[in-house]
Amino acid sequence: MSVKFNGKHLAKFIRPEEYDAIYPQVELAHRQLNDHSGPGNDFLGWMDLPHTYDKEEFARIKQAAEKIRSDSDVLLVAGIGGSYLGARAVVEACKGVYHNDIEDGVKIYFCGNTISPTYLNDIIRITKGKRFSINVISKSGTTTETALAFRVLRKLLEDSVGPEEANKRIYATTDRSKGTLKQLADAQGWPTFVVPDDVGGRYSVLTAVGLLPIACAGIDIDALMQGAADACDAYGVCSPDNDAYRYAMTRNILYRKGKLVETLACFEPDFAMMNEWYKQLFGESEGKDQKGLMPTSCIFSTDLHSMGQFLQDGSRTMFETYVDIKNTREDFYIEELEGNFDGLNFLANQNMSVVNRKAMEGTILAHTDGGVPLGVIEVDSLSAYDVGYLIYFFWKACAVSGYLLSVNPFDQPGVESYKKNMFALLGKPGYEDRKAELEAKLNG
Ligand code: PA5
Repeated sequence: MSVKFNGKHLAKFIRPEEYDAIYPQVELAHRQLNDHSGPGNDFLGWMDLPHTYDKEEFARIKQAAEKIRSDSDVLLVAGIGGSYLGARAVVEACKGVYHNDIEDGVKIYFCGNTISPTYLNDIIRITKGKRFSINVISKSGTTTETALAFRVLRKLLEDSVGPEEANKRIYATTDRSKGTLKQLADAQGWPTFVVPDDVGGRYSVLTAVGLLPIACAGIDIDALMQGAADACDAYGVCSPDNDAYRYAMTRNILYRKGKLVETLACFEPDFAMMNEWYKQLFGESEGKDQKGLMPTSCIFSTDLHSMGQFLQDGSRTMFETYVDIKNTREDFYIEELEGNFDGLNFLANQNMSVVNRKAMEGTILAHTDGGVPLGVIEVDSLSAYDVGYLIYFFWKACAVSGYLLSVNPFDQPGVESYKKNMFALLGKPGYEDRKAELEAKLNG
């Protein structure tokens, strides 16, 4: 099995009877998901997606990626939230944080995920003298951050290659039939890809939303989908031994014991954006009705030098989940140094991954001794196949976790509040009353 939840370090924090007691609720959640009878049941398109995805579109994605890889030095991917995090997470997990610097071929930069002028100016600088293409991704087609960046980048592209050629270099991933972006794409004749109606943003990485940028990075998207398909089968079985369900149960039991924060930690920097993706997945799915675990993350051993003190000794409000990647993309053999001037020869004659593993084992023992419940998600590697498997593991665990909490894991009503305030403060037509009210509060 490619992904497994190992709960052996949780034994002193959770008794077996606690799993037995909660399991009937898992059975109910499983039934609700399978017969589409639970909250948010119009957003369950992700469940069978690894098997039922649109094969014709999948082939078009591969062709588009091939074209971009052959005619562009740079691909700018504009999108935010679910229309951004998954793609970047998979690219960095499979190819590494420095893939743009190390690999030949098209460089991939993500934008449209901030309103920072500095960031946008830097993106513009990156395109200077380069042949570039744009993949604009927005399900609604109206998200401000993405639309604003796209407006600027589209003009940049048109100025650089002319409107006709620009139209061949803009790829729009959006709703099948509605929204401003879809209308614009149809009018201009841009190649378009679909965000399915029944797949929410945070569950969209294995649709065109993630697949086009991921394929452009040279990642094997067939293997990615195969991993997710195998996970779909494995975690489709209702059993107390289902690893995704065991993880969901663990989270809920600990939450009920007052552990309000989960820290997902990995000893591999390539996993940093997967951490961000996990935070969106669980944060948007569970954080509602004044309930939910707060998802946080660390990269160790880096963050042991910042968060380590708190985790070891601070208030006992959190539990940790480690992602243990069994086989690293590459290893490094540590040689002996003649004279041992730095005193590090005790580390020599072995691979660096062994040292990293000892750091993980030492941290597990220290933190559990310090009173932090700790579970481990074991993953064979960060290959495309295993990452696809892991994505589905988190999806399924998150859906069941949401139902165990009695929330709708597939909506995100809270995301709208800041947008309404921002629009009002910026004077968007239709928000006049709210503007006056907010300005009175700010100036009061
Ligand atoms: O998960 C979500 O639904 C959000 O994070 C969205 O993905 C994000 O707000 C971007 O939305 P859109 O794709 O409509 O631009």
